[in-house]
Amino acid sequence: IEIKVEADAIGKGTYPTFMLKEIDEQPAVMRRISQHYLPVDQPIAIDPALIQHVAQADRLYFVAAGTSYHASLVGKRLFERYAQIPAEAGVASEFGYHWPLLSAKPFFIFLSQSGETADSRQVLVEAKRRGLPTLVITNVANSTLAREADYHLLLHAGPEIAVASTKAYTAQIAVEAVLAKAVGERRQLGAAQSFDLAGQLALAANAMDEITDNHQAWDQLAAEYLGSATDAFYLGRGIDYDVSLEAALKLKEISYVHTEGFAAGELKHGTIALIEPGVPVITFITEQATADHTRGNVQEVKARGGNVLVIASEACQQAGDQIVIPTLTDELMPLVTVVCGQLLAYYATLQRGLNVDQPRNLAKSVTVE
Ligand code: AGP
Repeated sequence: IEIKVEADAIGKGTYPTFMLKEIDEQPAVMRRISQHYLPVDQPIAIDPALIQHVAQADRLYFVAAGTSYHASLVGKRLFERYAQIPAEAGVASEFGYHWPLLSAKPFFIFLSQSGETADSRQVLVEAKRRGLPTLVITNVANSTLAREADYHLLLHAGPEIAVASTKAYTAQIAVEAVLAKAVGERRQLGAAQSFDLAGQLALAANAMDEITDNHQAWDQLAAEYLGSATDAFYLGRGIDYDVSLEAALKLKEISYVHTEGFAAGELKHGTIALIEPGVPVITFITEQATADHTRGNVQEVKARGGNVLVIASEACQQAGDQIVIPTLTDELMPLVTVVCGQLLAYYATLQRGLNVDQPRNLAKSVTVE
């Protein structure tokens, strides 16, 4: 039975592709992370030495690549809000050449689904040479980065086989939130103590279930908005900008549509020159602080014939929004908005007759620099 269970975990089961299986597994992963790290009526299940070590830092440096880098952008916001520690996120390959001027008590947090990415490992090796504290958040327990970092936290997402990362991204955000809450509580911060993370992860899982239940609707939206596009844009502000970067990567890496995620406020500083009739612009509007400004950008795009698809939270919705999703706390909205982006990319790719699990030129883990 053990072998069969393992085979199911790695096989496609009844799914046509690994990517669809892994998109659909996300609600279960949210619930598993909550059960593992947030046991009821018990302390958060993270090594107290790690919590204490991060709590003493005066600046956090997130280092990652690709989708994991996009998850670290959300991690920065989570730690600044719930642990009140300044944080910055950097692309691993850039770090290698230009180490920042470090703070007095830095702490390095690496995100890597595979735990084998060469760019990230190069930075980890240098951080250790400098005697800096390191944590890796990874999906592979005995991976290189997990072995070499001072600390590691597991995603418990199950094997991720499709080249396009999906459940690892949402799992990384959830685990970052757990650690941010634990560190904030260690620092006696009210925001952390009152953060009902278990409740938010349960809401996220239910919202993911709702979104992944209606595959036909996503197939139709992909056809209507991305059908014959050669270029596409994702647009957002704040946390919606962070998830726009990830949604854009998903679409470009499997459908080969040239897709850009960009800050809505930057539209008028250049990108609007690319908006012409029919160009798809998918817009996330889930943050009340920035919603009105992004609505203004939507009008600017529509005035130039852009084919706008709005994905809004219930709290920010307006008449005419094509997709309305449940509202979570700002920094956790990507757990829900990204699933919309994953499914749009998935169906746009199927409609083009392409291989969603193994896109051209790409490997699941980039173990060369
Ligand atoms: C994302 O869909 C890609 N597969 C790629 O960007 C990936 O996220 C990146 O190579 C980092 O991989 P890692 O998380 O295993 O370090």
